[in-house]
Amino acid sequence: MTDVSRTPLTARRNGPLRGRIRVPGDKSISHRALILGAMTVGETSISGLLEGEDVHRTAAAMRALGAQVERGADGIWKVRGVGVGGFAQPHEALDFGNSGTGCRLTLGAVAGSPVTAVFDGDASLRSRPMKRVLDPLLEMGAKALEVADGGRLPLKLQGAAEPFPVVYEPPVASAQLKSAVLLAGLAAPGETTVIEAEATRDHTERMLKHFGAKISVRPTGSNDVGRRIVLQGQPELEAASVVVPADPSSAAFAIVGALIVPESEVILDAVMTNALRTGLFKTLKEMGAQIETLETRDDGGEEIADLRAKFSNLKGVEVPAERAPSMIDEYPVLAVAASFAQGQTIMRGLSELRVKESDRLEATAAMLRANGVDIAIEGDDLIVNGKGVPPAGGGQVATHMDHRIAMSALVMGLATEQPVGVDDVSFVATSFPGFPELMRSLGADLS
Ligand code: S3P
Repeated sequence: MTDVSRTPLTARRNGPLRGRIRVPGDKSISHRALILGAMTVGETSISGLLEGEDVHRTAAAMRALGAQVERGADGIWKVRGVGVGGFAQPHEALDFGNSGTGCRLTLGAVAGSPVTAVFDGDASLRSRPMKRVLDPLLEMGAKALEVADGGRLPLKLQGAAEPFPVVYEPPVASAQLKSAVLLAGLAAPGETTVIEAEATRDHTERMLKHFGAKISVRPTGSNDVGRRIVLQGQPELEAASVVVPADPSSAAFAIVGALIVPESEVILDAVMTNALRTGLFKTLKEMGAQIETLETRDDGGEEIADLRAKFSNLKGVEVPAERAPSMIDEYPVLAVAASFAQGQTIMRGLSELRVKESDRLEATAAMLRANGVDIAIEGDDLIVNGKGVPPAGGGQVATHMDHRIAMSALVMGLATEQPVGVDDVSFVATSFPGFPELMRSLGADLS
């Protein structure tokens, strides 16, 4: 279990945000690069890896499973992998701290190796559902030897030397679930198929291709909202070099900050703009945000762009449920933007927010309510009634071990009438180490 002491922080109005920054590497891609590197024979090099707490946990888990994982003096990480099915028996529990992605993807990877591993995490991760991932992995031949009540951590998983290939339709739109099945499917003979009713982030599929796996991805359903993913098992993965682009989910905080603090203008370099991740930018533009794409290019199999955001007069919009997978981590900060907008913003279909690092639907509502915003939860929808002027602020926000609640509240406090405090910023280091310093470099008052 992780024991982190609480570190409060307060955000205050302090003039415009201005400058050009690059936020740290994408968290999803960083986890995947370490895991796939560990499942490949040979040396994988990773530049731009997110050096956050969550990713360090995955690096430690890969070491415990027999891979060599090292950071060079030049900041490039090298992974010497053991090959598909080649993990060594770990001697201690794999502790994923706060990280659902690291834990769930590694469950998939271990499910296709003849080893037994104990998976654990902090109080937040111990409260999150693992049954959704265990169900297909058990179908593939892995065994859950011990599982805490309700299918949670800590749990002990015994992998299968040769898992069964499956045709799997995830009951929830979850890239973690999809990825766990695909990673287990690497060790299975024949084809493992995942049929997604709604497409979720596709970094696992792209990276599998990059490492030489045979994988096909076809759009399905009306308006091509779904995907049929077919992975050929037991491939010869080839060690590769991975370039990790800047994380759009981290860029979101500086972008929303620029939109709500008068006279701001911020440029964010090399942000990943994979369409399955950029629902927030689309929504903000619909709200009238001035977000401009300066230059686009391709790097390491992902599209990236430099983005400029300027202070904007925002208006309320309705965000359809179908957009949720492409912005699932961005609702807390979108709710902040909505609380400065003129009119009502309705965010539909947010049930998955209830099982993130905190119950993010409740935590987001509580964050806004504490700062004088008119907000309601109706079923799985979040409704924010903005008045087109900065909310009062003055609230003390409980972050519930959730990095994104902490960062959203601090961004809000840069533009509210009164300061906004958070009870604990220590979890920000899970995904965005250096967040306070980078925001201060733009002019933010965080102290
Ligand atoms: C992630 C998928 C999402 C997201 C998480 C990262 C990933 O979770 O919330 O921060 O890297 O696959 P779900 O797949 O559970 O929705």
